[in-house]
Amino acid sequence: MSPSVELTSESPADTLAIARALGACLRPGDVVGLTGDLGAGKTLFCKGVGEALGIPPDRIVSPTFTIVTEHAGPVPLTHIDAYRLSGAREADEIGMRELLSGDGVCLVEWAEKIGELLPTDCIQVKFSFAGDDRREISIAAPDLPGFDDFRARSRRFQPHQGG
Ligand SMILES: Nc1ncnc2c1ncn2[C@@H]1O[C@H](COP(=O)(O)OP(=O)(O)O)[C@@H](O)[C@H]1O
Ligand SMILES: [Mg+2]
Repeated sequence: MSPSVELTSESPADTLAIARALGACLRPGDVVGLTGDLGAGKTLFCKGVGEALGIPPDRIVSPTFTIVTEHAGPVPLTHIDAYRLSGAREADEIGMRELLSGDGVCLVEWAEKIGELLPTDCIQVKFSFAGDDRREISIAAPDLPGFDDFRARSRRFQPHQGG
């Protein structure tokens, strides 16, 4: 089983803080798949990761209609929203494999849409609603050297760790 951590976010600011902490551990070439219903916080999380990579948060908006936005930076960021794709086949047709194997960090909202195309070491971030502004965020990382570091830095969001 992959190393994983269960976090509770009580606000958009919490989600941004969690995302910045994860972003700080990511390496060029890493792919992060985000899942969770509309409004769960996937795009907000992408803003936080982008911020850790030096990209102004106002540049990061959901590429729902364009599907892909590429942000230049010290570590380039590819932001994908797979919501409008019919599935892995259509994703493959638009060049998803190349996008996923780029030099930068790649974030995929609605990752479940492109299932089998995701790399086996994809970092998975799953959101669920837990009432009002609360979100449960589960993060699994099969092969991320900085993950222990991330776990330590996100301790205050781990409800069972006594924060
Ligand atoms: N704890 C939280 N974490 C993330 N977003 C939250 C939280 N509480 C409330 N929100 C709100 O939920 C919405 C999340 O939107 P967004 O990130 O675009 O979701 P998605 O990309 O998953 O559809 C924002 O309006 C945000 O302010
Ligand atoms: Mg979104």
